[in-house]
Amino acid sequence: MTNEIKYSIIDSTNNEAQRQLQNGVAPKGDFVIRADFQTDGRGQRGNTWYSPNAMNLMFSYVFFPTKLEVRNQFMLSQASAIAVAEYLKQKGVEDVSIKWPNDVYVGMKKICGMLIENTVSGHYIRYSIIGIGLNINQPTFPDNLPNPISLTKCTGKQYDLDQEFSTIIEILRQKIYDISASNAETLMSQYKSIMLGLDRTLIYRSGGKVFKGIIRDVDRHGMLTVEDAETNVQQSYAFNEVNLVIPEQKKENI
Ligand code: BTN
Repeated sequence: MTNEIKYSIIDSTNNEAQRQLQNGVAPKGDFVIRADFQTDGRGQRGNTWYSPNAMNLMFSYVFFPTKLEVRNQFMLSQASAIAVAEYLKQKGVEDVSIKWPNDVYVGMKKICGMLIENTVSGHYIRYSIIGIGLNINQPTFPDNLPNPISLTKCTGKQYDLDQEFSTIIEILRQKIYDISASNAETLMSQYKSIMLGLDRTLIYRSGGKVFKGIIRDVDRHGMLTVEDAETNVQQSYAFNEVNLVIPEQKKENI
């Protein structure tokens, strides 16, 4: 049983997990910090992550790997994103995919974002804070978000957040405990089997350039190979060096 600490309100579950670890007051071993509301929810690339009170799941799973080398940290992204994708499939959602490196999409819409922050000791990861924001019961979204979706919008049902949290934690725990050098290939083939844009032409932006590209590969360190669909030139990208351009969505509601 993983220790779970729940807050009605906190700045960010990732921040709270880090504070507890740094102040020596964290539970022993793995634990999860969860909140109904975050005043300073953080996303990737310095973005904010806002979610209305008690509608969606926001939590940080703190994982102490036994021997995971820093250069293999992409496995944490893979395992976590696969876990969320599996959970959504179990809920009956179709067209679930992983947008590199670790967003989870339904069609071309984002249902889940992750902020994974690792603390290292030498060549190894001492602990990983896996922050997950998963849209569950939110019926409508602000107009300024490019492409959000929630579980309720996919299925038309309402969910008990505590119950969904327990389900997803169980799947996530299994997936991250399975991480090891020996199953890197299995993880990679599961990841690629649901990766958005693999061998498919979509629009990408890198630097100032917007181009039609085809993802041809992702390696075990998370480097992405995208082929320019017009020139057939392939290039390798690190996180933040290339972005999928989301097609203009039809706005249904505010
Ligand atoms: C992204 O897609 O930009 C990542 C979003 C991550 C949001 C989650 S919500 C729980 C945890 N606490 C945070 O402050 N961020 C992550």
